Amino acid sequence: MAGFNTESVLSVHHWTDNLFSFTTTRDPGFRFKNGHFIMIGLEVEGRPLMRAYSIASPNHDDTLEFFSIKVPDGPLTSRLQNINSGDQIIISRKPTGTLVLDHLLPGRNLYLLSTGTGLAPFISIIQDPETYAQYDKVILTHGCRHERELAYQELITEQLPNHEYLGEMIRDQLIYYPTVTREPFRNQGRLTDLMVSGKLFSDVGLPQFDLEQDRFMICGSPGMLKDTCQILDQQGFYEARHGDQGHYVIERAFVEK
Ligand code: A2P
Repeated sequence: MAGFNTESVLSVHHWTDNLFSFTTTRDPGFRFKNGHFIMIGLEVEGRPLMRAYSIASPNHDDTLEFFSIKVPDGPLTSRLQNINSGDQIIISRKPTGTLVLDHLLPGRNLYLLSTGTGLAPFISIIQDPETYAQYDKVILTHGCRHERELAYQELITEQLPNHEYLGEMIRDQLIYYPTVTREPFRNQGRLTDLMVSGKLFSDVGLPQFDLEQDRFMICGSPGMLKDTCQILDQQGFYEARHGDQGHYVIERAFVEK
């Protein structure tokens, strides 16, 4: 199909009844920036059925990884959740997106604020050495309803800190802050509430809202984006737009699938 590569599924991991990840082969000529999204899908009745997905793998990997919800009657995910190793996935050749380091003004602390599958682009960004070259501290937050939905915990807390090349940077600079809203957990509450109360900042040991030094990337549901932007705007931060750098960038977690 014109404009698309066909890749093979290499592995599938089901986190919960509603969440799964999978990896695919990667065309050697396919280039993207960490944080980008891409249209991917399946061929259904001879036609491509495509949806936007953030790429969860870093661009130095020779495979691609995606993190998805399962919507029982979703046109794509109702089918995609049944894929197995060896199956074919269609991937557009045009990655794009706003969650890229170049869009932000220089700063010292990079907050990656995510809910649900909004975590995906940040899994790529935390594996980019450039992230740690540009920022002293990288604070990866992930808000979910239930603890079992906190995907990628083992990668973040065990594999990456012991990674051959990235390990030292990750141990020194990456702070992981998961929070859960609908059952007891060590961090509880919506990220928005934790920002306004200052608890997020005091828990990670950084000052609350430092216009000079704090930069934000935000990926979540439309409601989460709206509320988070409102909080940041009230503090004087502004969004990067029209090619001009700003204090924060946003992308919707693509959920209607
Ligand atoms: P809550 O349980 O209070 O709704 P969802 O699965 O609905 O996308 O939610 C994922 C996580 O995002 C949940 O912890 C949810 O909290 C939280 N959330 C939902 N809406 C917002 C919002 N407007 N601002 C911040 N967090 C939100």
